[in-house]
Amino acid sequence: MLIDGKAIAAEVRSEVADGARQFERAHGRPLGLRVVLLGDNPASQSYVRAKKKAAAEVGIDAETLLHPASMSQDDLLALLGELNADPAVDGILVQLPLPDGIDEAAIIHAIDPAKDVDGFHPENVGKLVLGEDTLEPCTPAGIVEVLRRSGVETSGAHAVVVGRSNIVGKPMASLLLRRGLDCTVTVCHSRTRDLAEITRQADILVAAIGRAEFVTADMVREGATVIDVGINRVEDLTRERGYRLVGDVDFEAVREKAAAITPVPGGVGPMTIAMLLHNTLRAAERRAA
Ligand code: GUN
Repeated sequence: MLIDGKAIAAEVRSEVADGARQFERAHGRPLGLRVVLLGDNPASQSYVRAKKKAAAEVGIDAETLLHPASMSQDDLLALLGELNADPAVDGILVQLPLPDGIDEAAIIHAIDPAKDVDGFHPENVGKLVLGEDTLEPCTPAGIVEVLRRSGVETSGAHAVVVGRSNIVGKPMASLLLRRGLDCTVTVCHSRTRDLAEITRQADILVAAIGRAEFVTADMVREGATVIDVGINRVEDLTRERGYRLVGDVDFEAVREKAAAITPVPGGVGPMTIAMLLHNTLRAAERRAA
């Protein structure tokens, strides 16, 4: 089965649009999201454009704040201070990676946890690990929604997460462990010995390595659910833009073995954006309550 992330994301966005309308009726103002981008990384620019467009479509007042890569850390901290204090701003997202010379941790710490729609602030990360209600990182939260809405059985399943990033791998492991999902979780990474032997044990395999087509068919168990988080640009001169997007999974070969698989594009990517909108609504409702 091909998991249609685009369709599931459209469902989530439509639910958020309903919530956004209700919020505006009750509070006399739209939801507010501010996306901060430093520099001109082409992939980051494309993600930020997609986030802003999706937010506007569900009625969120979304603004992108573009600054040069040379912006100082102090100036960025001052900007975050203003956004934290602005009552019309419900969600703040600083697009990563940040330019060299800026301390990423210091920036994430400076975002009001109540407006941290990425779920990256240590207070929110701590709550996530403890299983407390919080704003959850968008990509792993989107994967949970995909599993739920596709009817994938998680209870007692062995979930293998390949990748240990703060953005995907680590929060993904915490979510899969939670009561209600109840997976047995193994986290692998670039130094893992006998990686294929471990991934072959996965009922649910989450590939978040950041290397094009890294997961090959021999690494996948027959009947597994395969979630591909990768978005890699590989040169393709037959395309007008000169590249195409491929995931971390060798899709054509692995789809023959997997019971269910997410494509790239059209799998996890749209869900990440949908969950950002969902988090913006949740952040607003929680602050208003
Ligand atoms: N860079 C890659 N993924 C993400 C994300 O989910 N949030 C932010 N802020 N930056 C990213």
